[in-house]
Parts: sequence; structure tokens; C-alpha cells
Amino acid sequence: MPMRFPEGFRWGTATSAYQVEGNNTASDWWQWEQAPGRIRGGDRSGLACDWWRHAERDFDLMTTIHQNAARLSVEWSRLEPQPGRWDEAAEARYREMLGSLRQRGIEPLVTLNHFTLPQWVADRGGWLWDGIAPAFAAFASRFVRSAAPLADFWITVNEPVGYLISAYLQGRFPPGRTNPLAFWRALRESVRAHAAAYHAIHDAQPAARVGVAAYLRPVQPADPRLPLDRALASRLDYTLNWMYLDALRSGRLVGLGGLRFNVPEAAGTLDFLGVNYYTRTRVAFDLRRPRSFFVRADRPYDAEMSDADYSEVYPDGLLTVLRAARRYGLPVYVTENGLPDSDDDLRPRFITDHLLRVAQAISEGTPVRGYYHWSLVDNFEWADGWSLRFGLYALDPLAQVRTRLPSAAYYGEICRQNALP
Ligand code: BGC
Repeated sequence: MPMRFPEGFRWGTATSAYQVEGNNTASDWWQWEQAPGRIRGGDRSGLACDWWRHAERDFDLMTTIHQNAARLSVEWSRLEPQPGRWDEAAEARYREMLGSLRQRGIEPLVTLNHFTLPQWVADRGGWLWDGIAPAFAAFASRFVRSAAPLADFWITVNEPVGYLISAYLQGRFPPGRTNPLAFWRALRESVRAHAAAYHAIHDAQPAARVGVAAYLRPVQPADPRLPLDRALASRLDYTLNWMYLDALRSGRLVGLGGLRFNVPEAAGTLDFLGVNYYTRTRVAFDLRRPRSFFVRADRPYDAEMSDADYSEVYPDGLLTVLRAARRYGLPVYVTENGLPDSDDDLRPRFITDHLLRVAQAISEGTPVRGYYHWSLVDNFEWADGWSLRFGLYALDPLAQVRTRLPSAAYYGEICRQNALP
């Protein structure tokens, strides 16, 4: 018996602008890529998947695999390459892309910020600039107005906590900072920016549905018998998973160690929750690691690993986070889920095992309304360059040749039947 999903379930793939469009030269990431040593293997985003010119080629692939939904993002730096200067041609191209999706019966879910900033925003301090919230909201409002007939389903920011950790604590993403205070201040500006954009979008388009995409993972103690491992896991669970989302419910951003910031305009600013799920985190308390806050990442000896030991394959964790997400009482979309698997030997079972958990969560009463696999085609994987391959279609970025992997046909059958065969 096939396992059926609810009527109207959204089946899609997820991408982000910088990772697929190519030549985003006005973005902070473009500058960042230029310095040696920052991207594995000296790779460059370059043409990426060449979406700026030929996204429709991949939209055709979406049709081939029967998607009825797609998650994509727009680059603020294309639409507003200089402060206050709006690029009408870029706006027209995005409208064309959204229209092409609609013509194919594919509902777009549009992210307004996915890990990048215009260089002019970065020059003013990026997420530490106290003008970023109004600037982001103004950009969001203008774009939403122009796209209004074509899109009404929005994500303000993608994975705000993990992104700001990479940018302000670990130094892996621009601006390459490693300063806890800067991280905290950036987080505060991010909550403000989300809130300002949420209200601006609803002003521009009353029927809009607006959410964030949160990277959620179970955080488990390496040794559950050790109180310090347990305490560390529970603090990290709060900080990584719930601190930001709680702020969007209550209007109070409460960090560890008594950090507290009131953002009243953020209270109640989620219409739905996007969940990006990849893997779990296991942690041990380790006195020898003061510089990483005494955290040692741990992994079970029998963990099944994706390419380059990027992540443990752990489908149960998706059920865990979907259950936990019920606390917000919101519709939920799995806005990313995938793995790097260049020979596609793990992906078909990965998809099955994760969708079984989605089906179980639905049967238990969690209102999961859609699933967006990361990703359609291999794309530029940030600091890992082209070394990690997440696509249902493999891409040779130089020749721009796509190769259909067995997973594409398999996922396509699921989308077509609205069921696990
Ligand atoms: C990010 C994507 C990224 C993916 C795989 C997600 O956390 O949103 O941009 O490509 O992980 O690493």
C-alpha cells in the first residue's frame, strides 16, 4: 500500500539565489570569495547553475519530476545594488522567473535573505549596522509589492542562528568575525529585521504568509549519564533551536548568561514555521576546549555518514524536531532536507526514511504541509565550494551539463503520486 500524503501537500526542491544564479558581483559573498583560502579547493561560485540567464532550464526539470512547489530566494544586492538605487531590470527578471514557475503550476516560496548581504550593507556594518532592519524592510516591501500577483508565500531570513554563528563566531562566512558579543548584537538586529520585514510584507500584501526557515536539530548528550553533558546539551538545544523562534513569539530575545533584549514588535510574527533538517548534534563537555565554550562534538561509532563526513544520516531526528515544533501551534513546512551524496547511493533511502518520519508526524497531528528537498541541482556550497553535491541532478559547473541521478526519478514519482510508493 502506498503511504499517501494529505491532499494539497507541497512537493518541492529548495535553492538559494547566490548558490544558483551566478555572477552576484554586488554581494558580500562575492568579495569574500576573492581572498585566497576561504573556499575549499580555491573554488568560486562563478556562473553557479546559471539561473540568472537560464533558470527556466531547471524549472523544466522541476516539471519533469512533478514538483508543485519550489523554494527559491532573491538577492537583495541585485535588486538594490547601491543604497536606494532599485534595479528595474533585476526586478523584471525575478518577475519573469516567478511567472515561469506559475505557468508550470509550481507555487513559489520566496526567501528574502539567504546568507548574503549587498556589499553596501556589509560596508555599513552588516548585521551590526543599526540601520539594517529598516533597510531590509524597505527592500522587502518594494519587492513584495512588485511580485505580489505572482507570490504570496515568504521567508524573511534563512537559518538566522546558524548563519550568524558562521559569520560572527566561527569566522567561516563574511565578515569573518569571531566575537561572541558581535554575534549577540547581530542576532538582535536579525530579530528586528525579521519583525520589520514581517510587518512591511503584510502592509504590502495583506494575504501574505510569512515565516522563517529555522535549522532545527536534536541536541543530545554524548553520555546521558553525565550531568555536564546533559546540561550542555540542553543549553545548546535552547540556544541553537528555540531562542530565536521564542523571540518571534514573545517579543523577548533571551540568551544564556542573563542576556536579554526586548523586541516587542517581533511578538507574534510567524504565520508558519519552516524547518530545515539535516542531522543531529551530539555534544560532550570538555574542559580542554574553553575556546569552543567547552563543547566537543561527538558521533556514535556506528554513525552512517554522508560524503566527506559532512553529516550523520539520522532520520529519527526529523520526527523529533517536528514534534518539538508543535509548541508554536503553526503550520510547518520542511523547507530543506538533503545530503551530499555524489554517487547517489544513500539518497533514495534517505528520502524514504525522512518522508516516513514526516508522514508519522502528520499522523500524530503535526500540521506539516510541504516538503522541499535540498536540492534540485548541485550548487555552490558556500565555504565548501563545489566539493559537496546535494543535487537530485548532478551538475558539471564548467560545462553546465546536468545528469539525472536515480533519486530524481524516485523523488519525482513520490511528487506525482503524492505518496510514498
Ligand atoms: C543552507 C543551504 C546549504 C545547505 C547544505 C543549509 O543549512 O540553508 O544554503 O546549501 O544547508 O549545507
